[in-house]
Amino acid sequence: MAALSPQNDPSTPLATPAAPLPAAEPCIVVIFGATGDLTRRKLIPALFRLACERCLTEKFQLLGIGRQVLADDAFREHLHGGVAESPETSDLADVAEQWPGFASRLHYLQGDFADPDTHRRLAESLQALPLPAAANRLFYLATAPSAAPTIIRQLASAGLNQEQQGWSRLVIEKPFGRDLASAHALNATVAEAFAERQIYRIDHYLGKETVQNLLFFRFANALFEPVWNRNHINYVEITAAEPLGVGHRAGYYEESGALRDMVANHLLQLLALTAMEAPASLDADVIRDKKSEVWRSIRPMTATEVGLRTVRAQYAAGTIDDLPVPGYHQEKGVARDSRTETYAALELSIDNWRWAGVPFYMRTGKCLARQVTEITVHFRHAPVSLFPNTNTLESNSITLRIQPDEGISLVFGAKQPGVGKQATAVSMDFCYRSAFAGQPPSAYAVLLLDAMRGDPTLFTRRDGVEAQWRLMTPIEEAWAAQQDEPLPSYAAGSDGPAAADALLSRKGHRWRLIADNVGMCHI
Ligand code: BG6
Repeated sequence: MAALSPQNDPSTPLATPAAPLPAAEPCIVVIFGATGDLTRRKLIPALFRLACERCLTEKFQLLGIGRQVLADDAFREHLHGGVAESPETSDLADVAEQWPGFASRLHYLQGDFADPDTHRRLAESLQALPLPAAANRLFYLATAPSAAPTIIRQLASAGLNQEQQGWSRLVIEKPFGRDLASAHALNATVAEAFAERQIYRIDHYLGKETVQNLLFFRFANALFEPVWNRNHINYVEITAAEPLGVGHRAGYYEESGALRDMVANHLLQLLALTAMEAPASLDADVIRDKKSEVWRSIRPMTATEVGLRTVRAQYAAGTIDDLPVPGYHQEKGVARDSRTETYAALELSIDNWRWAGVPFYMRTGKCLARQVTEITVHFRHAPVSLFPNTNTLESNSITLRIQPDEGISLVFGAKQPGVGKQATAVSMDFCYRSAFAGQPPSAYAVLLLDAMRGDPTLFTRRDGVEAQWRLMTPIEEAWAAQQDEPLPSYAAGSDGPAAADALLSRKGHRWRLIADNVGMCHI
């Protein structure tokens, strides 16, 4: 079936332009870990885009703090490279003209994060800035997680958590701890220095346009919500597959693994947005309450359930895009006997009236066949089999394609043309790229802008983080106790381990294929 895009409808204009972005409050952004990868690849390109879109006032300033000795000019040059390479700016026509003005607002302070003198000099630098930038401060921790508690304590000792003249906000990158106990301890440390309303815990998935659209899809339409429950839905699958391996992040990944890296945050957020009840308003806390309710409705697994309802595996050598890829154990920085999982799949049950009995399957992995992040809701079969093959026909489904090929597909049965009475599955598709003009801002641009505007809706609250770890920690513990059991593997470039297929097939369910799953939007 032809895609339902405005291009097929002569009465609508070609594509709807994106709404203009709102302005940030005047402020100074202070980045700890300013010479790191995240700052160069994501944060500065996102801020530069916001500057080009006129979201930052002329009072905007940025101060980067790092251990390296670096002059302001060298710091700016280092960041310019990141902007030039970033997809964030690929559609901007005037990067060269805009960069010098933006760069003149970037400053660098060398210092050890643990040294009180660094924070004293930081306070002095802030005081030297003209108001109101000096009064409103956004502290961004783009550092190794281990550095966070020290920085937070030092900020408080220097009085930089105080809000006398303006606001003071703290943005923390994931991981927020590595289990329930450490997340609890980190939250307690942060809470000693900052009030919850000052804290912005980033999960960059929440800034993605298609992830935000989940709420619009569900609650801006009257069509889907009546069938969005156990009476009509058979099962739900959530996939975040990546073709890339661990790259240069082996040090971090060895300590983390797929469950902590992706499931404990990004996938649980997707699940919550798919399963939550309608919020009474768009108030940040009302929405976050609804998401927390979902996580709290999931029973943490017992060790026996972990054995039955989870799968973990590691990639072995294989081929991706016709190129040979080494196995995880051959990657630089990975222990030869590492048992870190690069793939995780699990089945969760949400014990509430809407979802009881509907399995929610989630999977994620590195070095899989291709990149695809999507949520597919599978509906029940028609109650009566009127046509000869309705029993074997693919049941109705809705796939929310988060990335790439952003869009939504609805699969349903239609008459196969001809004289017979055979039904066949067809798809009706909505594609972002044909419906909306222009490239949306990146997740980091959206989230930085929200933090500078004081909107915490897309950030994870303390109780949310702890509810996520309450679900993940028993799985990590049960896995850690199975040290003698062999770890399954999957060939790089495949759809994952056979055990993940078996996880679904015992209930007659099936994952969507990753390898052949080419989206419908080829424009
Ligand atoms: C990060 C993980 O949070 O998300 C990475 O640490 C992963 O391992 C990345 O590759 C995926 O993000 P995206 O936006 O590319 O889907």
